[in-house]
Amino acid sequence: MDNNFYHQPVMVKEIDQYLITKDSGYYVDCTFGGGGHSLYLLNKYKDIKIIAFDQDSDSLQRFNENSQLQKVKDRIVFCHDNFRNIKANLYKLNISKINGLLADLGVSSKQLDDKSRGFSFNSDDFLDMRMNKEQKLTAYDAVNTFSKEKLEDIFFKYGEESFSKQIAAKIVEERVKGNIKTCNQLKDIICKVKYAKGKINPATKVFQALRIFVNDELGSLQDMLNSIPDILDIGARAAILTYHSLEDRIVKHSFKELNGLKTVNKKVIVSTDEEIKINPRSRSAKLRIAEKTL
Ligand SMILES: C[S@@+](CC[C@H](N)C(=O)[O-])C[C@H]1O[C@@H](n2cnc3c(N)ncnc32)[C@H](O)[C@@H]1O
Repeated sequence: MDNNFYHQPVMVKEIDQYLITKDSGYYVDCTFGGGGHSLYLLNKYKDIKIIAFDQDSDSLQRFNENSQLQKVKDRIVFCHDNFRNIKANLYKLNISKINGLLADLGVSSKQLDDKSRGFSFNSDDFLDMRMNKEQKLTAYDAVNTFSKEKLEDIFFKYGEESFSKQIAAKIVEERVKGNIKTCNQLKDIICKVKYAKGKINPATKVFQALRIFVNDELGSLQDMLNSIPDILDIGARAAILTYHSLEDRIVKHSFKELNGLKTVNKKVIVSTDEEIKINPRSRSAKLRIAEKTL
């Protein structure tokens, strides 16, 4: 993968091995990002086409500006939309069945590092956290306008944060003095209640919770998973990469419960030590594969 690619695709070989059951036809990349996975597959399989989703317009811009992606652009259809709307988009494109679906959930390294996006607690960025910049609700709105009870619920439900109550109370106390505008401001408030233990920043879980809430990540994931039995061809597969237990639980449960799907890997697939050394982001990745059987 060359330096043009900011995002090093996670478990790309494993995805290739498990996802590709046919070397032609339509595949869907639900989370195009910097296009790392898509490009790998398009370069290897010359007869496949990819329907690429990303709700972040920056991803579309990178697609338009990246020379390697431009070389295969005739085999990519970009849908700037939430992947929860996958069925409607395929319908519009007149595609009834696909040969495989990939999702590499969460935010990209590019989004995390972008100073204007507000995803990282180590920054003076505005508390934004929207993947889709056209969406109204930001993390700033949630932190500055939601009730103590609602914030506590978000931190507990989406961050599994055991200090949810204390952190929510502190936020409500502090915001009376003036709105909480930046990631650093919020991090400092959290650190007044929760002290660092080891290497993990005390704000990690609250930031995760806000991001999941603002982007309705779990709702979008569930909607997309529910569509899978209707859009996969018989024998085709879905490969989902998750990065925290809340997502992984939903994927595992849905693959078991949804009609016509069979889990391919009984044991979840994780990155090799070698990959983790090169790409630390892959450390928490879990890959699950399901096949459409009937
Ligand atoms: C981890 S990155 C994917 C990186 C990509 N696999 C690559 O190799 O470059 C996740 C991407 O999915 C997008 N995304 C996350 N949730 C989404 C959703 N519900 N609908 C559409 N795009 C989403 C994010 O904006 C981000 O660009």
